[in-house]
Amino acid sequence: MSLRTGIDVAYLVAAICFIIALRFLSSPKTARLGNLIGAAGMTLALAMTFATPGLTHFPLIVVAMVVGAVIGVPAARLVKMTAMPQMVAMFNGVGGGAAALVSLTEFSRDAGQHVAIYVIVEVLLGVIIGCVSFAGSAVSFAKLQELITGRPITYPGQQIVNAILGVVVLAFAGAVLATSSTLALVILLLLALVLGVAFVLPIGGADVPVLISLLNSFTGLAVAASGFVLHSTVLVVAGTLVGASGALLTRMMSLAMGRSLTNILFSAFGAVVTASGSTEGSGGGSVRAGTPEDIGVLLAYSRKVAIVPGYGLAVAQAQHVARELADTLTARGVEVYYAIHPVAGRMPGHMNVLLAEANVPYEQLEEMDDANRDMPTTDAALVVGANDVVNPAAKDSPGSPIYGMPILNVDQAANVIFLKRSMRPGFAGIDNQLLYDPKTTMLFGDAKDMLNQLVAAVRAA
Ligand code: TAP
Repeated sequence: MSLRTGIDVAYLVAAICFIIALRFLSSPKTARLGNLIGAAGMTLALAMTFATPGLTHFPLIVVAMVVGAVIGVPAARLVKMTAMPQMVAMFNGVGGGAAALVSLTEFSRDAGQHVAIYVIVEVLLGVIIGCVSFAGSAVSFAKLQELITGRPITYPGQQIVNAILGVVVLAFAGAVLATSSTLALVILLLLALVLGVAFVLPIGGADVPVLISLLNSFTGLAVAASGFVLHSTVLVVAGTLVGASGALLTRMMSLAMGRSLTNILFSAFGAVVTASGSTEGSGGGSVRAGTPEDIGVLLAYSRKVAIVPGYGLAVAQAQHVARELADTLTARGVEVYYAIHPVAGRMPGHMNVLLAEANVPYEQLEEMDDANRDMPTTDAALVVGANDVVNPAAKDSPGSPIYGMPILNVDQAANVIFLKRSMRPGFAGIDNQLLYDPKTTMLFGDAKDMLNQLVAAVRAA
């Protein structure tokens, strides 16, 4: 077997590893193994790249890899769970940017020679999609990191301006096709960057994780396009896998939020507070506030308790003490389950990852449909730092921005306890009437602090 064939076979093995990795990543039980298999495939692909005959600029490549590792490894190790979406945005953005630069470099190397139309099309796709993804991800990062406002940034006629920008980008793409001009391609690259920024500005912080998933899909396509330019099958396969899985994830997130992708991308959700909403929680009516002691007794003497985690649990890093509470209750004979909403928190699987980190047995996690079946027979639903995902406005208020979003029906439990710091609404910025319901008790405070007090109260009960 020649070296070339050996390398191709190794690339095929790497591609198979990526596919198996995706399969394994679909269940929390096998996800860790899936990650390792994917990493092994990537290591093999990298090793084969170095084995390719005629590889030039070896020292430069090593320096670039060292710089990437020095930044990437500590960033990934130190990042907090709540800051994960920003990190994904940043890593995704640099992937898109790299794909665009590869396409540009390959094109300018062949400048002046006859370049086949299909190669130019591949270069154009790499540059346009890669730049939109890079610039869009950078703005998403800034929004999530609160470097700029998380609210949609809008101005009159924005959609028209964006549409014109899109047409100008296409016109320059046509010019590159007709003239093979490197200058036109560089201008196109700059315009695509502007388009990426313009595309993301009107999207509100609450929708940015969906956007990141979409941009991730774009980056995959840009990488696949640069794979064609470089004649690298493994890049084409890896890019296509990222593109397809990103697109599927985007669709699943949109469905879980009960909104169409068009609505998420173009409605500037969160820019204006609608009739049923306010930003400061002025839903009216009086609320009943409880103490950890009262609620500890209620929980301790319940038969069945649901713990409903949300973004606030992640912010407070209260997953370990939530588990301690569940264990304490279980030891008293109370049946406890965690009700998991697919978009609780700020990224897909946010709650699953947090609770797995606290070693919560996977069997105790109930997906939304199962949890909703159990809710009517549940004595107490303890909602920890969640709001939108249990807001009945999604079922009852056709005018509400979250109307149609599937929710956890905690309103069907015999008692509802909301553990949060104030009456402020959740990310969607709308009031939750369930906070004012007679069967609801508010437990005001930081999730970790209050859960610690609840553990003590249950033990004392
Ligand atoms: P939210 O509706 O945002 O509610 C979180 C609540 O946590 C807030 O009301 C806040 O109230 C409370 N909180 C914050 N810090 C706290 C702390 N230290 N201790 C106790 N409570 C604290 O969260 P959710 O119910 O998880 O809903 C998720 C939202 O994000 C949905 O609107 C969803 O559409 C959106 N979203 C999710 C995703 C994914 S994939 N997960 C993607 C895009 C958008 P106080 O300020 O009063 O404490």
